[in-house]
Parts: sequence; structure tokens; C-alpha cells
Amino acid sequence: MTQRQIQLVQQSWLQVKPVAEQAGMIFYEKLFIEAPGVKHLFKNDLNGQADKLTRMLGYIVMRLNYLDDIVAEIEALGKRHKAYGAAPEYYDVVGNCLVATLRDGLAGKWNNELQDAWVTAFGILKSAMLKGY
Ligand code: HEM
Repeated sequence: MTQRQIQLVQQSWLQVKPVAEQAGMIFYEKLFIEAPGVKHLFKNDLNGQADKLTRMLGYIVMRLNYLDDIVAEIEALGKRHKAYGAAPEYYDVVGNCLVATLRDGLAGKWNNELQDAWVTAFGILKSAMLKGY
């Protein structure tokens, strides 16, 4: 990722942060429409899950400049996802729903450059998680 892409992702995340849990719930709504087959994998309270997901995303996003420091944590997250039944083929639909949620949430502030930055960030996250898988 370029420095500018990192900045774009971090700045846009700060705008979403105040409503992160709500955004997380919208993300799961989208995900269950796009991939109904994954719904049964989420056995625990979805509000709590939305909170965990957005906290983790925020943690990673704010450390994009120091990824080496947290790559082991991301791989461990990917390893835990094996036990959750989160197969590699689900990552792209998750990434697309995440980007769609951010796009809807940021509305007028969204543009192609921001989209490319998020897609790149998600690609990095996906490969690190799948390394741990
Ligand atoms: C962007 C990449 C992802 C991130 C940052 C992420 C983050 C998280 C976090 C923080 C948790 C809480 C448990 C833990 O920390 O181990 C979790 C649980 C879970 N994730 Fe993910 N996840 C990602 C991708 C996926 C994908 C691709 C799937 C596939 C469907 C998935 C399915 C699940 C399931 C089923 C659980 C357990 C839910 C439950 O206990 O009810 N995740 N995820």
C-alpha cells in the first residue's frame, strides 16, 4: 500500500468509528444476503460479533504502517477462523460486503481512490489471515 492509501483508509475509518457497531450490523445484513450459507457459522450474539469485528478492523487499520508488528496476531486470527468454518472462498464476499458497507456509510465522501485503498488493505489482511489458516 502507498502512504497515501494508508492515510485514506485511516481517515475514512475515523469517520466510521463513532457508528462502527451499527456499520458492523449493516455489514452482516449484507453478508447474509450475499452468502446465506455462512449465517449458520455465526452462533453467538451478532451485536457482540459486530463489536469484535469492528474493534479488530480498527486495531489493524490504525497499525497499517507497522504491519510487521502485528502480522503474527493477524495470522493467529486467521488460524482461529479455521475453527469457525470460515473457508478461504468466503473472504472475497466478506471483503466486498465490507467495502459496500463503507461505501454506503461514507456516501458522498466515497470515491474510486478510496475504494482502491480499501480493496488493497483488505487484500493484505486476507493473505495474512489465510497464511494462518
Ligand atoms: C476481514 C477479515 C476478518 C476479520 C478482521 C475478522 C474478525 C473476526 C473477529 C475479531 C472475530 C471474533 C473472534 C476472534 O477474535 O477469534 C471473528 C469471528 C468470526 N468470524 Fe471473522 N473476521 C474476518 C473474516 C471472516 C470471514 C471471511 C469469515 C467467513 C464467513 C468469518 C467468519 C467468522 C465467524 C463464523 C466467527 C465466529 C462467530 C461466532 O462466534 O458466532 N470472518 N472474526
